[in-house]
Amino acid sequence: MKYSRILGTGSHLPARVMTNADLEAIVDTTSAWIRERTGIEKRHLVSEGETCCDLAEVAARRALDAAGVQASELDLILIATTTPDRFFPSTACLLQQRLGVRGCPAFDLQAVCAGFVYAMDVADRFIRTGAAQRALVVGSETISRILDWTDRTTCVLFGDGAGAVVLGSADEPGIVSSHLHADGAYKDLLQVPGGIGNGRPEAAFIEMKGNEVFRVAVTTLGRIVDETLQANGLSRSDVDWLIPHQANIRIIQATARKLDLPMERVVVTVDAHGNTSSASIPLAFDQAVRDGRIRRGEMLLMEAFGGGFTWGSVLIRY
Ligand code: ACO
Repeated sequence: MKYSRILGTGSHLPARVMTNADLEAIVDTTSAWIRERTGIEKRHLVSEGETCCDLAEVAARRALDAAGVQASELDLILIATTTPDRFFPSTACLLQQRLGVRGCPAFDLQAVCAGFVYAMDVADRFIRTGAAQRALVVGSETISRILDWTDRTTCVLFGDGAGAVVLGSADEPGIVSSHLHADGAYKDLLQVPGGIGNGRPEAAFIEMKGNEVFRVAVTTLGRIVDETLQANGLSRSDVDWLIPHQANIRIIQATARKLDLPMERVVVTVDAHGNTSSASIPLAFDQAVRDGRIRRGEMLLMEAFGGGFTWGSVLIRY
């Protein structure tokens, strides 16, 4: 029996920083409102000409270095993104070319903020079946490009960035289990309505019924925690670290309470990064690995909720 194990992590944030105070000059908001309702203090944004693939490449190279794996050893490249550079080729193919790799499968996966959790599940299945030995899984986003910068209800929430992990085949987990769900009945609560289904592509931006999304997110993430623990016969005290999707500190606190975990055991980056969609979990993960908080052998629970709605979890023995 084969399992996948995390060999290395990496991440990258664009240099440009926008604080809450900077946003006060753009839309009718206050630093205090943003901080109190979301926990966000600042976010990083791409500059003109900086792309999703640029962010992904830096994060990927850092993860490869940390893993001690050459790009030529990869046999799967997977990018979770909602903001690909082109309709096609996929950003994963663009990244493959940048890394100088040829031949291995490379594709994008779109599950909005749950994208990284979805991509980990898919990569894990490649490795478990023997179809891949070494997989690069990236979450990379330039969400700032699909924001309406005149809409204070959305533009204050998001940021750009990328995170990556290299997975390798191992005899023991590794990824213990993953649990994915979606419910398209909620398609209109959180969406970018533009696209080729409406004719020729036009500019389109995130629209969200924030407080309805909030309510569903809190209950759904509570359920996914129970589902993950029950599937493995574990209790809440078996989880050492919660690495949640970083949308809102209040949603994160609610999930931590559900797990009975003190906030010191929750990796929080929403204050400094905002919501970076599919990049938020690998960004947070890499930060906590590099600063020494997360150690080998510990049990990690990743969970995410996003547009679709999509949601899921990954339980990892790191
Ligand atoms: N500054 C000041 N006031 C604001 C702002 C702002 N930036 N935005 C909204 N307000 C106002 C509203 O207009 C409203 O005013 P009113 O009472 O006069 O009508 C008031 O603040 C309260 O608005 P709510 O939307 O009820 O505020 P809420 O406490 O729900 O917070 C938020 C809004 C932060 C968006 C929250 O609902 C949330 O986090 N939702 C979930 C987001 C999420 O998890 N998304 C999923 C992942 S994202 C993805 O998949 C792409």
